Amino acid sequence: MTDRTVTNPGGPFRASVQVPGDKSLSHRALILAAMAEGDSLVNNIGPGQDVRATVAACRQLGVTVDLPQVRSPGIRQWSTPSGPIDCANSGTTMRLLAGALSTAPISATLAGDPSLSSRPMARLTAPLRALGGVIETAPEGTAPLRVGGVSSVRTADVRIEVASAQVRSAFELAALAADGPSTIDSPPGFRDHTERWLSAIGRGEWGEGSIFAIHPGPVPPARYDIPGDPSSAAFLWALAAIEPGSEVLTPNVSLNPGRLGFLQILEKMGAGIEAAVTDSVGGDPVGDVIVRAQSLEGTAIGGHLVAAALDELPLVAVVAAFAEGVTTVRDATELRAKESDRIESTTQMLRSLGGGIEDSADGFSVVGTGFLNGGAIDSRGDHRIAMAGAVAGMRAQGPVTIENAQAAAVSWPGFYETLEELWS
Ligand code: S3P
Repeated sequence: MTDRTVTNPGGPFRASVQVPGDKSLSHRALILAAMAEGDSLVNNIGPGQDVRATVAACRQLGVTVDLPQVRSPGIRQWSTPSGPIDCANSGTTMRLLAGALSTAPISATLAGDPSLSSRPMARLTAPLRALGGVIETAPEGTAPLRVGGVSSVRTADVRIEVASAQVRSAFELAALAADGPSTIDSPPGFRDHTERWLSAIGRGEWGEGSIFAIHPGPVPPARYDIPGDPSSAAFLWALAAIEPGSEVLTPNVSLNPGRLGFLQILEKMGAGIEAAVTDSVGGDPVGDVIVRAQSLEGTAIGGHLVAAALDELPLVAVVAAFAEGVTTVRDATELRAKESDRIESTTQMLRSLGGGIEDSADGFSVVGTGFLNGGAIDSRGDHRIAMAGAVAGMRAQGPVTIENAQAAAVSWPGFYETLEELWS
């Protein structure tokens, strides 16, 4: 357990930062490469512990991962793991692998750390069982999960009530083994990386609205060039937005619409934003983002914007403290099912630093005062709380001490050093 104290360096910064490879895309590239028979290349994989958990899981299934190369016998020849697969803190590892494995011939157990073991997994069972997939949770609807050992997979048309990219992706990977096309529908706002990549290889297509049809069959080996992670870049965007006179450029980040909610919120609050698509990877847009400080006003966030900004909502609270007026977040009950209960942990964090925040059943509201005092926060092992606290510390009047600061390594080892280098 490491504490870290962050202090305000004073004054503006101007920087260009290539942020690490995207976490969501890294998990998907590794899992699709592992499902394919043959050699794939996964370049610029995310460096965090979550992605390392997916690498280790693939190895337990008999896949050779010698990055950037991934060599697999294909999902139908995966080996039965000798023990439980440890998904560590990573919900994406657990849910996506649960999907792929639920309709696979081998069976496996997926386990996680105490935080992951308390997160809801029952949301996977109805969609995967509709395909004839096998998935058993613990009695509380949580991990460990027992999955797979299936010889026949049928088609299914399902609708889920949460705009969850993880549940959609789990279903889509499972449905690749079905005996005909299947479809999934959900509310909008989710990151649609899996849908775009499956479309690119001819294994799926969009229907009306959020309906996606999966065309079953093998996944081909491929080359994946992972762009920078917008959920990591968001911490730099936030700091540039709240530090008067600052500007940050983050080249080559994923610009998938399901990842851009935070930029939309910053823009609504008054920050200067430029985002330009420069490329696409498997039909998924990539580009450069510039964020400039301008005076900020409070805003109201709810509806579909919540899903597209979900991982960044703790950071919205920090930005809101430096804006004029009230910022409210609603429709965000899903925050309670993340690495920590992020309604509670965000409220605690901001309050400990002297911010005016009230929680509600489905979100929080922040009264912007234009400053934070500083103080001590506990990350509760949640990387995004630790990192949002560090951003607050770079702008607060007094130092911010982050307990359990090591949690940042879940998505971005070296994050604190990058923050400090912004001024050099
Ligand atoms: C992710 C989807 C989101 C997000 C998580 C990563 C993904 O979760 O919060 O950090 O890579 O699919 P849900 O889809 O469960 O909301």
